[in-house]
Amino acid sequence: MTPTVTIEELRADPHPRYRKFRRDSPVVRCDELDAYLVCRWEDVRRVCTESAQFTADQPDSFLTRFLGRNMLHSEGPTHRAARALVLPAFRTPPTDLTRAAREVWANLPRGVEIDLLGEFCGVLVSRALTGLLGLEEVVADGRMTSWGRVLDEGAADFAGDTRVGERVARVRADVLSVARAAAERQFAVRPESVVGCLLAREEPVAPDEVARTIEFMVLGGDSGPREGLGTVLALLATSGAPVRDRLSHDTRTRRLFVEEALRWECPIGAITRRNRRETTVAGTTIPAGATVLGVLSSANRDETRWRQPDVFDPWRDEGPHLSFGAGAHGCVGAALTRHLARALLDCLPALETATILRPPEYRGWWFRGPDALPAVLPTAG
Ligand code: HEM
Repeated sequence: MTPTVTIEELRADPHPRYRKFRRDSPVVRCDELDAYLVCRWEDVRRVCTESAQFTADQPDSFLTRFLGRNMLHSEGPTHRAARALVLPAFRTPPTDLTRAAREVWANLPRGVEIDLLGEFCGVLVSRALTGLLGLEEVVADGRMTSWGRVLDEGAADFAGDTRVGERVARVRADVLSVARAAAERQFAVRPESVVGCLLAREEPVAPDEVARTIEFMVLGGDSGPREGLGTVLALLATSGAPVRDRLSHDTRTRRLFVEEALRWECPIGAITRRNRRETTVAGTTIPAGATVLGVLSSANRDETRWRQPDVFDPWRDEGPHLSFGAGAHGCVGAALTRHLARALLDCLPALETATILRPPEYRGWWFRGPDALPAVLPTAG
């Protein structure tokens, strides 16, 4: 019998469970998700990279039904064409992110309690996403933030809550109005942006397709980076002066710090695949057609891959983690996320002036990051 786990058990704190699974039963079943969770580094890498066995093409998945057919849930030539079309938009940061980070910081309220995660990281991510999409002329930070929040809610609304459905419908209508205006060239769209790439395609692009691409990118580019940047910021805020001092003087240490933060608390805990044919993983038989979760956050703490994996070691230099997945579907937004994290570190002198009111608690198992980072900024400066 394959051991089982419930969502509630994972939600509480997934790491002790994953540790036990890696040791005793590296593949477990979650009946609520009707899925097999694969937990060891080598096996998770297989799930990410062996698309002949574990396919991303999952027409019946909730997310495919919510988003429609999209890049992430397709394979082969269809996937490659969709990815190649938007790839130019990911080659360079959409805007000067260090300047954007400083600007967002400078506009934060002072002398009152704020949540740095929402008001700093969240706004910075929204701004980057707006630039990436090429919508900076028409979509302000708040509108992008609310698109992200509502679409996230819809993508996780397995129960079909009517109020969530209404909020999603309103956002979808709003996204479509922007997509229509873009398709009709009512405002300037940067050619090297996601929407710019779509509009430059030879065959005409329908507003509906632009809208679906925007929704997909907002879903992909909102929660993950918000959790990831949140973790970088929270670790920065709770690190001692010697760590912050090294980060201020040495760019190599910044790269290590960011990668370790993303390894230690993996922002998106798992990828999903459909098992094409019956197979055996770590001694467990997985039937054909089953949903398989490659648990990235477990792989990132596998004792056979990492030295003292539960320790956050800011200068760890042990090679790549799996937070951005791997293989054909590896995250297109990884470079952008790294740029964002470094832009955040560029604000270090200003960040040090903030008084952090309580240390964060890390929450979640699918999306995982700090719950909040309440702080007060000095009234002057
Ligand atoms: C901390 C930040 C981020 C994390 C942890 C993250 C994580 C991931 C992971 C694990 C995958 C692989 C999914 C799979 O194989 O099923 C992925 C794919 C993807 N990510 Fe990210 N991501 C982040 C930021 C971003 C950003 C900023 C964008 C921009 C819109 C983005 C867009 C995408 C897209 C479009 C894919 C699908 C690629 C494909 O199917 O070829 N991600 N991401």
